[in-house]
Amino acid sequence: MAKPQKRYVCQSCGSVASRWQGQCVDCSEWNTLIEEVGGNVTPFQAKHNLQSGGRAIALIGLDADVTLPERMATGIAELDRAMGGGFVEASATLIGGDPGIGKSTLLLQAAAELARRGQRVVYVSGEEAADQVRLRARRLGLGDAHVELAAATSTRDILTTLGQGQPPALLVIDSIQTMHSDLIEGAPGTVSQVRASAQELIRFAKERGSALVLVGHVTKDGSIAGPRVLEHMVDTVLSFEGERSHQYRILRAIKNRFGGTDEIGVFAMETGGLSEVANPSALFLTHREEGVTGSTVFPALEGTRPVLVEIQALVVRLASGATPRRAVVGWDSGRLAMILAVLEARCGLSFSTCEVYLNIAGGYRVQDPAADLAVAAALISALSERPVPADAVAFGEIALSGEVRPVAHAPLRLKEAAKLGFERAMGPAATKGEGGMKVSGFKTLGALVDHMLGRG
Ligand code: TYD
Ligand code: MG
Repeated sequence: MAKPQKRYVCQSCGSVASRWQGQCVDCSEWNTLIEEVGGNVTPFQAKHNLQSGGRAIALIGLDADVTLPERMATGIAELDRAMGGGFVEASATLIGGDPGIGKSTLLLQAAAELARRGQRVVYVSGEEAADQVRLRARRLGLGDAHVELAAATSTRDILTTLGQGQPPALLVIDSIQTMHSDLIEGAPGTVSQVRASAQELIRFAKERGSALVLVGHVTKDGSIAGPRVLEHMVDTVLSFEGERSHQYRILRAIKNRFGGTDEIGVFAMETGGLSEVANPSALFLTHREEGVTGSTVFPALEGTRPVLVEIQALVVRLASGATPRRAVVGWDSGRLAMILAVLEARCGLSFSTCEVYLNIAGGYRVQDPAADLAVAAALISALSERPVPADAVAFGEIALSGEVRPVAHAPLRLKEAAKLGFERAMGPAATKGEGGMKVSGFKTLGALVDHMLGRG
């Protein structure tokens, strides 16, 4: 018998190499290649000939009738909103997030709500004992909900159990990294195990009409397979974000085959579990002192909801010729480098001998490209030591040419800022005032610099 061929699978991105290497050639992560034996080694072992074997498949026009999949709303409005209306039957959802962020808590709450609505719900925990989950449910006031619990890690056991009787409407697997399929070799958590276990569970969900939710941990050290290999296999990918030291959590759809990906769900982690935040616009605004430099308020937009956030910048001049640090929390560091470069090259402001720190207050992560102008205003304010007026907000996208570009939904942003007591806005040229807001429009970043430094 031929010796099984060795292969090395990157635990971060799932790419396969025939020899061990220190660094993965695909995702450039270090020390992520692990030897795995067996599994689906070569995808094209069989030779295919044209016109032989297969059966003819029906081809359907794009305009043919469609039946919309059934949705199960959980009643947790923020969760339903992020998913586009609730869980979809015969579908697979992956929810990723840092350990301890609240994934198990959220899913236990969702499971209990669906069970209370008369659905059959099964929650399989591979991480905690059934007693631990029950205790948590009791603490959350969910002890009365009829959720069927199991502490198990074998997909064969789980599917044998569920194969009998009515399939569950919702099946939660917490987490996929703890699951083990005996169809292939390898320890739980390796890419091939995660992939095989997920495949079996997804097949069950699609055949039996269950909504499957897989919890996936995101770790940096590569010892656990990142959920990235799973993203292609599931219909919906949700990310549960936030800083553990802060109270607020955001549920964001990254991929959704059944709906949009632009709405978020906002929650607060409290002693009684996750509570919904229906109106998040003022949530991330900390109390701001009058006259502090380097701080701007940005009216961000999440789907159709405005969220006002404070952007803080600190600029420290270095005496020596040491390489200055740039540190960013809550925003893209590449984008910060770009704004700094535009301020240098187009506006004559020099940050080259300064350390630059940028922080989005409240543990919020800004993804809206309209933040550019607010970040630039915070940087200019920090460098020039002139505060941005406390009653002003700023928004606009900045191009490499230094041009300030218009952004989507300016009226919505202005209206919400006005509602929260702001009176002025700095934005792209030709932005119309709204809700009583006075708008200063800027064609270029240079014009904003002149305005803020009082140069004409
Ligand atoms: P958990 O749902 O276990 O996180 P994950 O499954 O993503 O790893 O949540 C863990 C954290 O949440 C834990 O550190 C304590 C906190 N927490 C609360 O603050 N209140 C609560 O009611 C619960 C259940 C957890
Ligand atoms: Mg958990």
